[in-house]
Amino acid sequence: MRAAAPRPCTLVVCRGCCCGNPRRHPGTDHAWQLDRLRAGAAEGGFQVRTTDCLGPCDQANVMVVQPSTAGRRAGGRVVWVGFALDDDSTDDLLGWARAGGPGVAEPPATLALQFIRPPREARSRARR
Ligand code: FES
Repeated sequence: MRAAAPRPCTLVVCRGCCCGNPRRHPGTDHAWQLDRLRAGAAEGGFQVRTTDCLGPCDQANVMVVQPSTAGRRAGGRVVWVGFALDDDSTDDLLGWARAGGPGVAEPPATLALQFIRPPREARSRARR
């Protein structure tokens, strides 16, 4: 049996009912944000995927930063980021993911201020 291939840091971008919705957050170019994240991932080093509503809609746009295999081995854990609506937070997310993400690189201090508590269901899933 072969070992699983190492996984890079992954940005899980919520695009449910509220996150990415210009009617809820008209001051943000949500398509541009996702384009920027995908373009960053295309350069290599991390990956991006979208998901339906993650739960904490009142903290949209929500993104989950999953550690790489190396990051997880180094003690990195999944981090939830809320209120990711402006270019600065997108820049911070890109920079952190490029640097390796949780367990590999320290998050930008400004991004750390946007860390949110995951919903209860996600917390219990993480313990399994
Ligand atoms: S739509 Fe993103 S948390 Fe609900």
